[in-house]
Amino acid sequence: MTDNFLLIETRGAVRLLTLNRPDKLNAMSMALTEALIEALEAAEADPAIGAMVIAGAGRAFCAGADIAEFKDLVPEKRHLIERRADLTTALQLLLPGLGKPVIAATQGHVLGGGCGLAMACDMIVAAHSSRFGYPEVKRGILGAVVTPNLARQIGTKAAFELLATGDSIDPARARELGLVNRIVEDGEQVDTAIALATTLAALPPASLQATKRLFYRTLDVSFAEAMQLAHEAHREMRAFPRHESTERFTK
Ligand code: COA
Repeated sequence: MTDNFLLIETRGAVRLLTLNRPDKLNAMSMALTEALIEALEAAEADPAIGAMVIAGAGRAFCAGADIAEFKDLVPEKRHLIERRADLTTALQLLLPGLGKPVIAATQGHVLGGGCGLAMACDMIVAAHSSRFGYPEVKRGILGAVVTPNLARQIGTKAAFELLATGDSIDPARARELGLVNRIVEDGEQVDTAIALATTLAALPPASLQATKRLFYRTLDVSFAEAMQLAHEAHREMRAFPRHESTERFTK
């Protein structure tokens, strides 16, 4: 997939996916959303890749769903409404469902579906200029498909405030809420994310992927069910390929 609205590069064991509609602040058209899903699935399937980074070209990470497409999203065109909802839902489910970690590298506007995209990644490296928010309510709609993931990641009061006011927050506030991992100078976010992704990609893949799988599965079930999943994962890890780092302890 090489459409120029999504740049696909490989940096060592890291796949860098760059939203590339800078003149539209990387608004997520349906075609871009589809391309991103396809590129993430391709990276997941590629044995040479251990982690992915999602970035945005230009002054914004992503200003959300492509509002220019909204004129067609009317009740009479139900198939388009369904397609838009299906694509965003698929992306929200795909990111935590991938075995390989995905890091968002953000700057400027990180809004609506763009904020939902960053939040669905496993980690966020934010440049100082990043502003995170869900302005949908100010546009007379709601951030429907991005709500569940935000609600499960931070406290209900903070999540509700973000969704219901539509106001944006800066990286310092986002870090207070536990929503970003690193704050860096503008221009450094992609390199920092790639360095982090490279470190993750060098870890034993079975361990890393099982860690991610267990992590997200435990978020969505009761404590007792989570402990059951943890018990199963604990048993399964004994069958992982032996790793050189444990060899010296087991001689
Ligand atoms: N969908 C489609 N196009 C978008 C867009 C979006 N979500 N966000 C920005 N753009 C386009 C603008 O139409 C403009 O295109 P043009 O130059 O062809 O007119 C270009 O990106 C630059 O945006 P502009 O509004 O001129 O930049 P700004 O710095 O003045 O304002 C924002 C930036 C993000 C505050 C403003 O663009 C905005 O409010 N965007 C919508 C954000 C939003 O509501 N997202 C949720 C969607 S449900």
